[in-house]
Amino acid sequence: AANDRFVLEIPKVELHMHIEGTLTAELRWKFAQRNGIKLRIAEHGPELNSLEEAKAAMDLLRPDPSRVNNDEERFQFFEAYYEGFECLKTREDYYDLAMHYLEHAAKMNVRYCELFFDPQGHTSRGTSWAVMMEGFREAQKTAETRLNVKSAWIMCFLRDMSLDSAMEHYKAALPYRDIIVGVGLDSNEEDRPPVLFEEVFSLARRDGFKLTMHCDVDSKNTHEHIRQAASVVAGKGLDRIDHGMNAAEKQDLIELIQKRDLGMTICPWSYLRHTTYAELGPKIRTLYDAGIKICINSDDPAYMEDCWVLENLLLVKHLCGFNDKDIAVLAKNAINASWATPTVKNEIL
Ligand code: ADE
Ligand code: ZN
Repeated sequence: AANDRFVLEIPKVELHMHIEGTLTAELRWKFAQRNGIKLRIAEHGPELNSLEEAKAAMDLLRPDPSRVNNDEERFQFFEAYYEGFECLKTREDYYDLAMHYLEHAAKMNVRYCELFFDPQGHTSRGTSWAVMMEGFREAQKTAETRLNVKSAWIMCFLRDMSLDSAMEHYKAALPYRDIIVGVGLDSNEEDRPPVLFEEVFSLARRDGFKLTMHCDVDSKNTHEHIRQAASVVAGKGLDRIDHGMNAAEKQDLIELIQKRDLGMTICPWSYLRHTTYAELGPKIRTLYDAGIKICINSDDPAYMEDCWVLENLLLVKHLCGFNDKDIAVLAKNAINASWATPTVKNEIL
């Protein structure tokens, strides 16, 4: 619609996007063909023999608000998400994966992004750090020079793996720290509170990395996990919170986040796996009205009916009744919550 032009054209910053969450059926098919790999949607699922079969399998993973709070659905998402890693083998695959996102980002006027990647999911399949990081580095350079999209990487630890594994991967990443701006935590949150990773997050802060962490909306200990992320881990709490939307339900958490002036990365489409439309708008509105630095992001676009940051902004515009001024505030929040240098921040404005 004509009145959505402002949302399309405004310069954007995206801070919560899993590069492996952009593995669409088309990309999976392309990489599987190129590498001579059998494609499956889950480890023990049937082989997918055409692009059409791959698309149909991905379609079944879309959020469906009529099936909210379904544990089975969460399980299926993670199974498919990690199975997708199987088709990535070469430096060229990692380059193409990153470029696919960065080209789309350029079309939406994303000018800077901080992209998550999950190294443990790749090394456990025998991929070397050099293959991964040199592919990413090359894409980053190409995007900056040819597309005017700047980027940085956030290395996420898988919280359903051990602290030892996180520490090992942290150390292995240090040769690539020139392109890694921060450290995060993702994957299945059940029984995996933030404090379990205290040691690696404290070390990363001492080494100068920025810190963030997922606090998913369907976590059983959602409020306690948000409290730990905001005020306990690495001495005083992290630099940003990913999701954390349930803070809207607790005045003390709202005040804590306000006091620490933490940015929060909100991914509206993602929550439709666990939340109804009716709940979603008011929660986001509560955080926004409290003056918290929330920004809007896409999380795993390939799993969300191809909803990228633009579509997520349009969704909150509709659900929260945001006008163009509010959209500008959200875009500004993303710049302020980002870990870009002051020079880069100024260029975006
Ligand atoms: N890793 C990738 N997508 C994720 C999500 N939605 N929640 C937790 N971990 C993830
Ligand atoms: Zn995420």
